[in-house]
This record gives sequence, C-alpha cells and structure tokens, in this order.
Amino acid sequence: MAAPCISYFLLCMFFILIMMSGKMLCTAVSAGQDTKLHVVYMGSTPVQENGESHTALASLHLEMLHSVHGSREAAEESLKYSYGKSFGGFAAMLSPSHAQQLSNMDGVVSVFESKKLKTLTTRSWDFIGFPASAQSNNLDYQSDIIIGVLDSGIWPESESFSDAGFGPVPSKWRGGCQTTSDFPACNKKLVGAKYYRSSPNYPPLGDFLSPRDGDGHGTHTSSTAAGNHIKNASFYDITQGDARGGVPGARIAMYKVCWLDDCEEADILAAFDDAIYDSVDIISVSLGSDFPMDYFQDSIAIGAFHAMKRGILVSNAAGNSGPSRASISNYSPWSITVAASTIDRKMDCELLLGNNMSIEGISINTYTMEQPWYPLVYGGDVANVSGGFTSNVSSGCALNSLDHTKVEGKIVLCNYVDDPPDYSVFIAGGVGVIIISDDFDDTAFVSLNPATTISTKQGKYVLSYIKSTSSPFAKIQKTTTSKALAPIVASFSSRGFNPITLDILKPDITAPGVDILASWARNSSLSGNIGDTRISDFNIISGTSMSCPHIAGVAGFVKSYHQDWSASAIKSALMTTAFVMDPTKVGNEDAEFGYGTGQINPMKAIDPGLVYDARVDDYVNFLCKEGYNDATLRLVTGDLSSCDLIQPSKNGARELNYPSIMLSIIPGYPFKAEIPRTVTNVGAIESTYKAIISSPSGTNVTIIPNTLSFSPLNQKLSYNITIEGGSMLADELVSGALTWSYGNYTVRSPITIYALAK
Ligand SMILES: *[C@@H]1O[C@H](CO)[C@@H](O)[C@H](O)[C@H]1NC(C)=O
Ligand SMILES: *[C@@H]1O[C@H](CO)[C@@H](O)[C@H](O)[C@H]1NC(C)=O
Ligand SMILES: *[C@@H]1O[C@H](CO)[C@@H](O)[C@H](O)[C@H]1NC(C)=O
Ligand SMILES: *[C@@H]1O[C@H](CO)[C@@H](O)[C@H](O)[C@H]1NC(C)=O
Ligand SMILES: *[C@@H]1O[C@H](CO)[C@@H](O)[C@H](O)[C@H]1NC(C)=O
Ligand SMILES: *[C@@H]1O[C@H](CO)[C@@H](O)[C@H](O)[C@H]1NC(C)=O
Ligand SMILES: *[C@@H]1O[C@H](CO)[C@@H](O)[C@H](O)[C@H]1NC(C)=O
Ligand SMILES: *[C@@H]1O[C@H](CO)[C@@H](O)[C@H](O)[C@H]1NC(C)=O
Repeated sequence: MAAPCISYFLLCMFFILIMMSGKMLCTAVSAGQDTKLHVVYMGSTPVQENGESHTALASLHLEMLHSVHGSREAAEESLKYSYGKSFGGFAAMLSPSHAQQLSNMDGVVSVFESKKLKTLTTRSWDFIGFPASAQSNNLDYQSDIIIGVLDSGIWPESESFSDAGFGPVPSKWRGGCQTTSDFPACNKKLVGAKYYRSSPNYPPLGDFLSPRDGDGHGTHTSSTAAGNHIKNASFYDITQGDARGGVPGARIAMYKVCWLDDCEEADILAAFDDAIYDSVDIISVSLGSDFPMDYFQDSIAIGAFHAMKRGILVSNAAGNSGPSRASISNYSPWSITVAASTIDRKMDCELLLGNNMSIEGISINTYTMEQPWYPLVYGGDVANVSGGFTSNVSSGCALNSLDHTKVEGKIVLCNYVDDPPDYSVFIAGGVGVIIISDDFDDTAFVSLNPATTISTKQGKYVLSYIKSTSSPFAKIQKTTTSKALAPIVASFSSRGFNPITLDILKPDITAPGVDILASWARNSSLSGNIGDTRISDFNIISGTSMSCPHIAGVAGFVKSYHQDWSASAIKSALMTTAFVMDPTKVGNEDAEFGYGTGQINPMKAIDPGLVYDARVDDYVNFLCKEGYNDATLRLVTGDLSSCDLIQPSKNGARELNYPSIMLSIIPGYPFKAEIPRTVTNVGAIESTYKAIISSPSGTNVTIIPNTLSFSPLNQKLSYNITIEGGSMLADELVSGALTWSYGNYTVRSPITIYALAK
C-alpha cells in the first residue's frame, strides 16, 4: 500500500512497514504557509570552475530567490541547497506562485516539487555464470574503479567494506568522508560517505544523522555492487555460500539520501552533484517514482544525464509495480534500467497439519518451532468483537482486529489483504502465521515470527481442516532451499512499455533480484518490523533494488577493462551480450517488456565485439526530435548545441543509436520503418560481421548492408534496418532479433514491435 505523501521509494519489496511507521514523522517541515520544497533546475550552467568558491553560485541563487520573496532574509531562509559542482540549480522552500515566477526566469530549465521517494547473494553471481575466479582477474584495474551508491547509508564495519589488502585510495578521488560520533571513518575500500537531509535536521527514530545505515537497504545494495568476497556467509543456515559484489576489487562511495521516512529529490540531486564531481565511475540508484515524469522534471533522469556527460553510467531500478504494462519507473535513454529476475533457488517453508498433511509454502523462516504442535485458528474465527472488529476484517488479521485471548500461543491462518500480517499476529500474542496469497508465489519474505505463505487453493484446504476437527494443530518448519526453474522475471518487476518515449525499449536488461543474500546493517530489523530483535550481518531481500546494483557492479567490472569507454558503450556491452531469455516460460510472457535484452552475462560483457555508442550530441538530437526547445537544451548541455537543423519528429526516437530496437505502432494498419544504427568495432582488429535476422512474426526485416567489414579498431560503420509488417491487434507484442556475428562474437539487439492499446 503506497502511503499518499510518498511518491518515490527504495525499490525493495519488504519495506512497507518501516515506511508506514516513518510516515508519522514526515509531517514536521515548513517555513511559511503553503510552501513546499522545490528543485529549480538550471541545466549545465552555471557550474563552479575547479576550486572556485561555492559562495558566488549561492549568491546568484539567493538573488533569484530575493527577487521573488522580496527580502534577503526570506531568501536565505528558503534556500536549502545550491547545486553547482556538476550542474546548475538549487532547492528551496517555495509557494506555487513563487515556483511559477522562478520557472519563467532566464536560465531556468524546470521547477518541480521535490517529491519524496521511497526505497523501493550471492549465489546470484554463480547462477549467472560469473565465478569468483573470473572476478579476481584485472584486480589492479578494479582497484581504480569507484562505485557511487545513492541509498540509505552504509554499515562501515561490515566485512564487505573492509580495506584489508587494498592499496591507496585512487588519486582521482575528490570526495570526502563526513565523520560523526557514530560514523568514525571511511577507509581504503569505503573511500567516501556523506549524508543529505534537507529537513528536518534530525534523523527519524532508529536512524543516524550520519552516513551510517539505519535501515539495511544501502548496506545490502553496496555490498551487492562492490562488496568484498566473504567466505561462508550464512543466513541462519538457510543459505550457505560466499557473499561477494560484482566488482569486489573496486571502491565504494556512499551518498545517503534515504532515511527511514523517505528519500527527498532535493537530496538526491545534491548527491548526484557531488558524486559526479567526486569522480566516481559508476552510480547505482535503487530508487524510483510511482508515475511517469518528463525527463527534466525527474531528479534521477537529470542526475543521470549530467553523469553521462562525464562518462559515468547510472544504473537504475525498473520499479516494483509489475506485472502491469508500462509500470516502469526509470526510463531515460542515457541510463540503464534494470528488471529483476529469479535465480535457481527457491525458499521452501513447509506447513504441517495435525492430520499429518504437509503443505509446501514459501517464506524465509529462520525459526525452529520447539513444540511438536501448536493450536491453529483462522483469523476470521477470532475477531476482537468488543473492539468493534468483524470477522471479515479479522480474516485478514488486520492490526488489533484479533482477540488476543483466542490467539495467544497459537498459529493463525490469515488472508493477505494489504500488509503482511506477521506483525499484527505477533502483537496479538500469536506464535506463527499462515498467509494466504497468490501474489507472492515467486518471492519469499523474511518474517517477524514463524510464517509461511500458501496459495488460495491450499488456504481452502487448511480452512477445511480447521473446520473438520475440534482441536486443529499445525507447525511451521524452518525454511529449506530447493532448485527452481530460472531465470523468470519476478512478478513485482515493473514492465515496459516506456511511458515517456514509446520507441525506446525499457527495461534494458534483467539481473537477479529475488531472495538475494547480501550484507546488512546490524541495527536494522530483518523483517522491517518493529519488535524484530534478530541481529544479522546478512539478510535476504527482493526487489529491483537488488538487481540494480548487480548491473552497477558488472558495469564497474567492464570499466576496469575499458577505462576510456563512454557510459553508452558500457551499457551497450552489457545489453548486446545478455543471456537470451525464454519468453515461453511462465512469468516471461511479457518478453522484452519484462526482461529487456535478457539476463546480464558479465564474462561476455567485457568483450562485446561491437558497441552502439552515443554521446551528448546524440542525446541532444534525440531530445530535439522529442520536441524539447532550443533554449532549454542549450541550458541543459551548457553549450550552443541547438535544434536549428533538427525538427521534432514523431518517430525520431528510433534514430537514437540504441542497443535495442523498439517500434510502437498503431494497431490495425500495415507499417514500414527504416531505422539507422552505427556500430563501433571494439573487438578484433580485422573482422567481418554478418547480420543474422530473426524477423518478428508477421514482419519482414531487411538489413542493408548485411555484412560489415572492419579493419582498424574503433572504426564505425552504419547500416539501416527496414521493418515491414502487416496489421497487428491492439496490445499485441511481437519479438525478433538482429545479431551481428563474427567468430565468437555475437552482438544481439532484440527487435520488439508493440501495437498500442486503443
Ligand atoms: C543501535 O543499536 C545499539 C545497540 O543495540 C543501540 O544502543 C542504539 O541505540 C541503536 N541505535 C539506533 C539509532 O537505533
Ligand atoms: C560455515 O558457517 C556455519 C554456520 O555459521 C558453520 O557451521 C560451518 O562450520 C562454517 N563452515 C566453514 C567451512 O567455515
Ligand atoms: C500422524 O502420524 C503419526 C506418526 O506417523 C501417527 O501416530 C498419527 O496417528 C497420525 N495422525 C493422523 C491424524 O493420521
Ligand atoms: C468483506 O468485506 C468486503 C468489503 O466490504 C467484501 O467485498 C467482502 O466480500 C467481505 N468478505 C467476506 C468474507 O464477507
Ligand atoms: C480489542 O481491541 C481493543 C481496541 O484496539 C483493545 O483495547 C482490546 O484489548 C482488544 N481486545 C482483545 C480481547 O484483544
Ligand atoms: C540509410 O538510409 C538513409 C536514408 O534512406 C540513407 O541516407 C543512408 O545512406 C542509408 N545508410 C546505409 C548505410 O545504407
Ligand atoms: C514478407 O515478404 C514475403 C515474401 O516477399 C511477402 O509474401 C510478405 O507479404 C511480406 N510480409 C509483409 C508483412 O510485408
Ligand atoms: C573462440 O573461443 C574459443 C574457445 O573459447 C577460442 O579457442 C577461439 O580462439 C575463439 N575464437 C575467436 C575467433 O576469438
């Protein structure tokens, strides 16, 4: 259930309860009436020159604020941030009319309300064919790579971030470490850490006013991206194995923008402004918004654009709003958008009934129940009637709806309604909970007390057992793991199409994001519930939050081999070498709208053969065709680049040199499209690639020329793709692919054609 004041979130699946409790704290703000925190985005200018003082910029921003507020004091009071290290702009408390006035001023690209974003292993690396032995190659170069993570902070004492064996901090590093009494120091692995909190200037209950992680999420994502290799990382003996990040030899810089209450866009932009300047190589952002926004009204798209200008690839989570169509939450073409898929491990949690039936549920239950049996009741039979609750409400075990005298010491059967009922059963004195839901058949959750999730059909059986006897009993077993069919796109993973630019495929790629083991913050609740007293160095959680740092880590690994590659070249290498997924498997029906080009394949990504490069000019062309005006783009790029010669065009996005090919068409009419692409040779010096075409059903695809002969490295060659098709039904999706092949190199671009719903 999305809290109404929150439209962005950390993209991890179990955070609901913490966010709910945090909601109470997110009301204390406000200087004047009706003022809200806004971002005033001013593009690439003015940006402070190297070493120039920040005060000159701040005074420009104050002048602008002065002119709308009418007083210097009000201007000073309202200004929260002056950006200017990597792009121009500021954040301030503004009324709607002041925001409007500022948006009309020269130099302003956009003014938007700073929305509150919520936070939406390592078997996973073996599963995708990325052994630890391969990661230990190229360690010298890995150690020059710095992964910047925008998240909820970090637990610096975790073994994942120990600097044993690390050489000096790379000399390019320009960032800092914000030390406090509860965050004593960074080290040669965790090279930087800062926190950003525009208001209020105290932490939410249970959090720290420092870069320390009060929540666990940031520790988990950072260790997934670039954590050290830890032998024998066990989570309550449920999973055994090593924990390691994607690029374990790299350094980490944490930018804490998320707190137990929320993540504020004004803070996110301040972190981007620093991270780009600090010279990180890759940025991982497991955050997103609930609804589509224009590129320059979206803090993450803005930050990623300026990062791309400096050659920094930003990895974004696709969102956890699947499986509905067009639910994707990060879609800018200059970043890489990551879906979440399963690994081949399932979390089984067996339910035993007193009639000796065994039912296989799914859950991460760390507990071993001591007695042979516990009495079993159905929530609907134990309503707290005197408290005014009906059996209808108590069947979902809503908070306070259970009569604790009838629940004490028992296992309770509950329908899943809006929130996991483990907390409400726990405070009513229950010892365990059986959750009936068909929504979580692919994802397990760590529960506060012994719990297992079963299907509606299984739920009916358990209920009939309860009714069949005067003394029903049950027991919930500790979780064990088994082999599962994989990779399958997680049901929660947000799906395409791209709501803002129909002809750019999103998501771009998928990576493991279901039941991922990684490091955890020792002060943080494992289940997200207040009252959970377990302390662990590791936790298992799910979300596109977890898949996103897998891609950031691999991007860092690729960059350690190719330090001179652009952000788009690295992104292309990841996309064109991905494992091809099987759309006929249950769960993968959305094809590219579920998994993009497929599942990340790190070992191939370091040597892709050819790349689809794109630089700032290419994205500016794209934006011109999308109808952004000249003046806006001059500000955004900070030079005189202009749309003079480039008209807005309906199908212009198809011409962006993107590693995948996407056509959105009108249903019911035949169509023809001609799409240009350019590839750069980064493989063999002398090489001749042939086009292998798999036409989407009902279409004919022609490639001209269909052979590309390269002689020097870095040579660029162009070709055209012509796609002709008959009429398609509304909401129909067909897929094919173009693969350039030479020797062991296969450079694959899916061709996805979607007929829009009417
Ligand atoms: C973190 O845990 C320690 C030890 O249990 C406790 O003393 C401290 O208050 C906790 N900090 C926060 C912010 O909850
Ligand atoms: C790994 O950890 C488990 C539990 O923490 C322990 O029982 C086991 O002996 C350890 N194995 C190795 C090889 O250290
Ligand atoms: C369940 O199994 C146990 C041991 O096999 C047996 O003693 C008991 O009678 C069985 N109960 C039922 C209800 O079948
Ligand atoms: C419970 O109430 C809801 C909404 O009022 C209704 O749709 C549902 O059918 C009821 N369920 C039962 C079991 O009575
Ligand atoms: C019923 O709910 C009320 C109000 O929440 C609470 O005070 C009371 O203790 C509950 N009674 C039982 C028997 O659980
Ligand atoms: C692709 O098509 C365009 C427009 O028809 C043409 O100008 C260009 O030369 C073609 N490129 C190649 C490589 O054939
Ligand atoms: C594809 O080409 C074949 C053979 O030239 C032709 O018969 C068919 O009509 C074409 N289909 C489309 C959709 O253009
Ligand atoms: C292809 O891979 C094989 C085995 O990995 C290797 O021996 C061979 O040299 C490779 N060929 C090319 C053209 O790279």
